[in-house]
Amino acid sequence: MTNPSSPVRTVGVFDSGVGGLSVLKAIRKKQPTIDFIYIADSGNAPYGSRSAEFIESRASHITNSLVDAGAQIIVVACNTATAIAVAKLRAKLTVPIVAMEPAIKPAVAHTKTGVIGVLATERTIESPSVARLCREFGQGVKILLQPCPGLVELVERGELSSDYTQEYLRKLIAPLIAQGADTLVLGCTHYVFLEPMIQHITGAKVHIIESSAAVARQTVRYLSHNKNLEPGERTGQELFLTTGSPENAQTIFSKLWGSPVEVQALENKPAHADLMTY
Ligand code: DGL
Repeated sequence: MTNPSSPVRTVGVFDSGVGGLSVLKAIRKKQPTIDFIYIADSGNAPYGSRSAEFIESRASHITNSLVDAGAQIIVVACNTATAIAVAKLRAKLTVPIVAMEPAIKPAVAHTKTGVIGVLATERTIESPSVARLCREFGQGVKILLQPCPGLVELVERGELSSDYTQEYLRKLIAPLIAQGADTLVLGCTHYVFLEPMIQHITGAKVHIIESSAAVARQTVRYLSHNKNLEPGERTGQELFLTTGSPENAQTIFSKLWGSPVEVQALENKPAHADLMTY
């Protein structure tokens, strides 16, 4: 039975924009009674072409906002923010952080041709953490790293099935297939919403891997090991916030979430307002 006085269990989730909704959907499927606060930093998207300092500053500001709003655990639903900022976030915050990385390890385990492709933002592709994943798990496999400038912006605008998006994706993916890739990693949470189009381009023989289900499993594991975060009994709620225009967000959020949602404004403070100091 619902106990209205039982403490609210709240998970904070953020991304540079709407991409992290793919992760939130995967967690929600497994956790119907937890409350979520989701922040889309759409006023500052994309992160993938920005400096490391900018991304660290934004990630710090957004996580602080989530903690201030009552989040007891943070899910970084952004590969770029994880690659660039997660170590500093963990050093700075006391709340637990679940983060994500491109699914290079499972892709290497899956490939039969010995060639995999990784689609991600520029900053993720050139990050030391992706270099480490390639070093640790990529022995004997050819890993084709493909940056995709501009793709996040197309998803932010809701262009999931336009001719332009399809043509651009074809240009990015065709060289990977031509070099023998039979497995593609979607190393950016925005790209998950383009998966049907990507699969259409590659054909069914190419296997596509992304990390949202793994992040959901990890979040659930964490919650089940922490008594203070045990799910309540009432249906969980979502609070959606954006640093971009809430009016624009309303349409794209509802489209990606799969039902109408209300999106509220979060003040878009300048990136330098809370640069991390160590
Ligand atoms: N969804 C973010 C990621 O997973 C996109 C980053 C960006 O804004 O460029 O990397």
